[in-house]
Amino acid sequence: MATLVHKRIVLGVTGGIAAYKSADLVRRLRDAGADVRVVMTQAATEFITPLTMQAVSGHPVHLHMLDAEAESGMGHIELARWADVVLVAPASANFIAKLAHGRADDLLSTLCLATEARMAVAPAMNQQMWQNAATQANLIAVHKNSVAVFGPASGSQACGEVGPGRMLEPTELVELTTGLFTSGSLEGLRVVVTAGPTWEAIDPVRGITNRSSGRMGYAVAEAAAEAGANVVLVSGPTMLTDPERMTIVRVSSGREMYAAVHEHISGCDIFVGVAAVCDYRPKKAAAQKLKKHADTMTIELVKNEDILASIAALAEAPFTVGFAAETENVEGYARTKLKEKAVDLIAANDVSAQGSGFESDYNRLLLVDKHGVIELPRQHKTQLARTLIECIAQKYHAKGAAQDSRYAHR
Ligand code: PMT
Repeated sequence: MATLVHKRIVLGVTGGIAAYKSADLVRRLRDAGADVRVVMTQAATEFITPLTMQAVSGHPVHLHMLDAEAESGMGHIELARWADVVLVAPASANFIAKLAHGRADDLLSTLCLATEARMAVAPAMNQQMWQNAATQANLIAVHKNSVAVFGPASGSQACGEVGPGRMLEPTELVELTTGLFTSGSLEGLRVVVTAGPTWEAIDPVRGITNRSSGRMGYAVAEAAAEAGANVVLVSGPTMLTDPERMTIVRVSSGREMYAAVHEHISGCDIFVGVAAVCDYRPKKAAAQKLKKHADTMTIELVKNEDILASIAALAEAPFTVGFAAETENVEGYARTKLKEKAVDLIAANDVSAQGSGFESDYNRLLLVDKHGVIELPRQHKTQLARTLIECIAQKYHAKGAAQDSRYAHR
């Protein structure tokens, strides 16, 4: 089951007999959809070869701090920035000590200091080393620095002793790593997201549509699911594979999207309209393919119902977020849409900008509401969607708190 789709994981491997399990771990992380880059310490290479790790990860393994070739490709700082998660498995007692004290004397420890990504260690060591007071103090220190500690398990050890210190199995590590992406900010809430374009048929083979790939909307739906929400994704026609952990409703036209959204909106806490719904549709779609006769042709168009405005106008409207695709005066038009559609928040993007907006993997957003403007700089849509969802969660909870205090003062 793919649960780490589009997630970027740096797997650090340190010296320990459990390093032999790291190859299987890479394979399972990739099966779950993650893109994995491996960093090995010198000691780790005594237990498993970089060639093996390269073969299973599909990428060159990073070994040295000052490796001219690696630095010209993906250097240690880029790797630190690239990662969504740095997972060190196995993490030796020595490595945990280095992490606790902020040492940076090799590539992996330097990367751990340089990254803003979530971090986790999967300790693996002799049971006496694990129970040693120094190791336990180091674990408390790393835990205080928000590093998750996965395991260890208890049982018979490679050294012949029995006790705690065995690295968790790769399947357990994949599950725990997946859990790192759940922020919990939307725990238990119901979120409906629209994505992609709509297709407005002219006849059975022709139609009106637009350049939306669905990437932004799918990323928003996935970020909401990561944050603990129950998500319904209503998608127009896209080439994207269905995300896991949510209900997907595939539609074609704006009218179908309107119907699907209204069917799922009851009990919904947050609605995010990312879809590029065609504003107009042909008044009547021809039942058969239109034949080429006259030199000119007129197609009468009628307005599609505005899904976003219709949701915001409901008596029990959810917290409603619209997107705005603009080519000029982005903030001004976003403000107009905020008012006209009576929504809580508009996420505006400049779709005339190169390398962001439609079709691209990247985007930048201007979040406009009655409190002001927040600028989210250009970044990968996956990351951007996570930040957007955290902003939405904050604003949703703040609105709820403000309403509660208003009732309390009545
Ligand atoms: O799909 P990608 O390739 O990743 O590209 C992402 C995107 C550029 C499509 C996305 O970021 C975006 O801007 N989506 C909104 C596109 C759009 O239709 O903007 P608009 O300004 O025309 O509409 C404003 C809002 O009203 C949107 O939330 C839209 O979903 C909603 N709307 C519009 C018309 C309509 N009939 N019903 C609606 O609900």
